[in-house]
Amino acid sequence: CGIVGVLGHHEAAPTLVEGLKRLEYRGYDSAGIATVNNGTLARRRALGKLANLSDLLVHEPLTGKSGIGHTRWATHGAPSVNNAHPHKAGCVAVVHNGIIENFKELRATLAAEGFECTTDTDTETVALLTERHMQNGLSPQDAAYKTISALEGAFALAFLFDGYDDLMIAARKGSPLAIGHGEGEMYVGSDAMALAPFTDQITYLEEGDFAVLSRSSLDVRNLHGEAVSREMRKIKLDIARIDKDGHKHFMAKEIAEQPTAINRALAAYLDQNNQITLPEELDFTKVERLTLVACGTGYYACLAAKYWFEQIARMPVEVDVASEFRYREPPISAGTLAVFVSQSGETADTLAALRYCAGKAQQIAGLVNVPESSIARESDVVLPIHAGPEISVASTKAFTCQLVILLLMALKAAAQRGQPLPADLPEDLRSLPGLLHQVIAGEEQVTAVSRELAKAQDIIFLGRGHLYPLALEGALKLKELSYIHAEGYASGELKHGPIALIDETVPVVVIAPSDALFDKTVSNMQEVMARGGKVILVTDAKGAELASEGVAETLVLPHVNSVLTPILYAVPAQQIAYFTAIAKGTDVDQPRNLAKSVTVE
Ligand code: G6P
Repeated sequence: CGIVGVLGHHEAAPTLVEGLKRLEYRGYDSAGIATVNNGTLARRRALGKLANLSDLLVHEPLTGKSGIGHTRWATHGAPSVNNAHPHKAGCVAVVHNGIIENFKELRATLAAEGFECTTDTDTETVALLTERHMQNGLSPQDAAYKTISALEGAFALAFLFDGYDDLMIAARKGSPLAIGHGEGEMYVGSDAMALAPFTDQITYLEEGDFAVLSRSSLDVRNLHGEAVSREMRKIKLDIARIDKDGHKHFMAKEIAEQPTAINRALAAYLDQNNQITLPEELDFTKVERLTLVACGTGYYACLAAKYWFEQIARMPVEVDVASEFRYREPPISAGTLAVFVSQSGETADTLAALRYCAGKAQQIAGLVNVPESSIARESDVVLPIHAGPEISVASTKAFTCQLVILLLMALKAAAQRGQPLPADLPEDLRSLPGLLHQVIAGEEQVTAVSRELAKAQDIIFLGRGHLYPLALEGALKLKELSYIHAEGYASGELKHGPIALIDETVPVVVIAPSDALFDKTVSNMQEVMARGGKVILVTDAKGAELASEGVAETLVLPHVNSVLTPILYAVPAQQIAYFTAIAKGTDVDQPRNLAKSVTVE
């Protein structure tokens, strides 16, 4: 969920909506704002995307120069107007990101005192509890403080109060919150990006901070209730208007931007003599073991990187999804480099996994697309991926940029550890943008295939070696966008179960460039075809020549250094998902139930 707040000199509603627009990546189930106008607190909420709230505000405007706003990704309680934030109890309005874990106990206590919940959310208990304390005579500040002391779980909160035009309260525990300083104005936002159109003077609240804001003051108390001052920083943010640049969807634009994005990433980490220039603190000769942690698409980038680090740099690598990693409580010895890969840098599970590693005598590197993000701020070494703003929920250019940088890290590690580099690397990386461009330009070969795939109920993706993670990514993308059930398997695993699913109704996408493992994968493909399965082979010209017989469709890609195939073959995986979603008519950029960055555990 995303939070924004303002104590300003102008009408708050347009500012809140503008801020929320920049936070929609955190969820779009419903949205709402509350304002105080001459002491009167009022709110508007709408189901669905932010556009619905904007429409509502045209018909039912909300005046007032102080306000809070929220865009929701439902956790407790279905998406509905009633469950949308801000939540209100008496004279208190609250917006919340996170989960209040003891809300059931709080609800029971409140009910016993006659304070009944009217929504299914955990957040409403925060508003009710504060209202109760105020009815008992506490000031808004003391009431909010007492409420927060009773909360368990993770939260970022912003409060607004009836009767108080120049007061907002903000608190954070577990979920990030930034305060923005304007000219006699004060802002609150889930991230600095949301506040970029209004100010670049940012104070990040720290864990356990409780902040009381007016237009001219910011008073912060820390975890122990002591008054503290938090540094104000001037941050660089790209406030350029985010548009589709003539494309039908952000996803199409972002797929097309990959050659440029990869060029940017290469320019940042590969000098003109093809020397890899990573931050000096990264010394792989001292690293005994590597841990790679991420969620979603970033996790598949890590899985591909495992092959590179192991095969090229001969380093032991552990890869895990963040939500499993942290609760597994893995023993971590000194000499480990832990790399956290996150496009947004705000994913709650990844951040929690990072914090688990922090303080365990090892180096923490953050591979992020947003250099001001929480993961970047809490890492020892930050490697920006330079993909540029990624808006579509399904990750495309961030994935390929993550792959490029992870590969550069593996090559650097190999060089530092005296391992031979694969032939023609890193030079061949320079050819990638041009090759990607060719694949992007040849998208029409995918459209016909996708029209067929759109009729299927289940689709299987197969890959081997460092293309196995691509099979997983292809399946993830497809199910995210088209809502068709899809699974990715290691080709060799097919015979150990998934083959039972194969018949003429289940298309199988086989990702198999003509590399050292090609014959093995082709054998698995034959096993599919022998059972009536319809194969879509994604390969290069040589692979097509050798193995197209009996295949339903072949997508042909240009030849590329086999180390680089996960990067090039990411494009057809993206295109298949994109065009299948188009054929099905689903919402490509904002698929149902998803958020670009999930800021709750
Ligand atoms: C969500 C998105 C995915 C993304 C994942 C991790 O699930 O829908 O596209 O890969 O979060 O996000 P991050 O920002 O940490 O890379």
